[in-house]
Amino acid sequence: MSDLLWQKPGVEIDQRIMRFLAGDDVVLDREFFLFDIEASKAHVEGLARIGIVTAQESADLVRELEQLGADFRSAAFVLDDRFEDGHSAIEARLIERLGDAGRKVHSGRSRNDQVLVASRLWLKAKLLELSSICAAVANICIYRAEHDVLPMPGYTHLQRAVVSSTAMWFAAFAEAFIDNAWRARQALALIDANPLGTAAGYGVNLPLDREYTTRKLGFARMQVSPIYAQLSRGKFELAALDALGAAVLDLRRLAWDLSLFTTAEFAFVRLPAPYTTGSSIMPNKRNPDVIELMRASYASVAAARTEIEQLLSLPSGYQRDLQGSKGAIFHGFHRGLDALALLPDLLAKMEWDAPRMRAAIEPAMYATDVAIEAAIAGVPFRDAYRAAAEAANAAGEGRTPEASLAARVSPGSAADLRLGALRARLAGLS
Ligand code: ARG
Repeated sequence: MSDLLWQKPGVEIDQRIMRFLAGDDVVLDREFFLFDIEASKAHVEGLARIGIVTAQESADLVRELEQLGADFRSAAFVLDDRFEDGHSAIEARLIERLGDAGRKVHSGRSRNDQVLVASRLWLKAKLLELSSICAAVANICIYRAEHDVLPMPGYTHLQRAVVSSTAMWFAAFAEAFIDNAWRARQALALIDANPLGTAAGYGVNLPLDREYTTRKLGFARMQVSPIYAQLSRGKFELAALDALGAAVLDLRRLAWDLSLFTTAEFAFVRLPAPYTTGSSIMPNKRNPDVIELMRASYASVAAARTEIEQLLSLPSGYQRDLQGSKGAIFHGFHRGLDALALLPDLLAKMEWDAPRMRAAIEPAMYATDVAIEAAIAGVPFRDAYRAAAEAANAAGEGRTPEASLAARVSPGSAADLRLGALRARLAGLS
């Protein structure tokens, strides 16, 4: 490992302890590295604005930071355990290339606000990605709700209940994912605050141009209190994971539907071949592994949430425990976004088996229609209900699923899906 930023003369470094302290930090910091470089550029320019570095030094530092970013992207520079963490790697490189100018770069900042600002920028990018994937899911769901109007059974308690339709199924997930896209935007708006310039968590005796770095980094506002900036580490990760959790919660239920609907017993849905796998021993099998892993992604998001929540049993001020939030947030977001990202294509390509769904609609499923028709004709609903129950299957004889759906006029249901309202909310996102 290169020299530690904080090494004191005469104090020996124990490598076993160092490894424990660093953990997998330097590897995790690869995720943040480009954001750390962006924030470092803004910090350097901010320092030039208050005369801590000269205009020339600032230009040199920015140029070297950009070069480091390019080298990192091309793998000419590898962030590895030569360094304690990503922050040290940036400073070491600037000192190596620029000497004194590099040695000035940490004026007025701490790794505590450095990691905060890099992780904040990372979280913002992930929430934007989450929002656009959710919008893409909603978009394909609306399209298919318009085009696939096939009767299917509607279930409650997994028992056949009333006639439903593929359009109603798609419209449901359209609305769910519009909510999820909005939820991601709301989480983004909450965390869109610049912590850079709060230093170790108590500010510094320099008139840092925090307005400038806030603008430059594209934050909506400055996070004002240095102590709160530290308090928000972990809290904001949880807000982001809550938004992600809402989306994968719906994904989990959607995947559950598909894993039921693709069984031989239901056989309502055929998945596109690339979304299934074979068995190593049973030549007859095609398994819906992709939807199962989509369903399982919820566990990773929930685990990330739990890990961070457990870490936050802390007093105010920076505590090294907070370092543990990085692995959790990466793992949760990778699993969650990877699973969600496949969903639009899967939804676009899955096929319904119309005859199988139709065959699963039995006459008793019209009983609610029959009772409500009698109620429309003036029979008190409770009496109409009893008459329909007594007539059992006979009540629904001769009826068709199409007629049942055509009469389902309550707003939002089959005869009045209100897809226009959904489209309008979706459009409001862009
Ligand atoms: N790796 C550390 C983290 O993620 C960076 C901040 C280190 N700060 C400190 N005071 N040791 O929290």
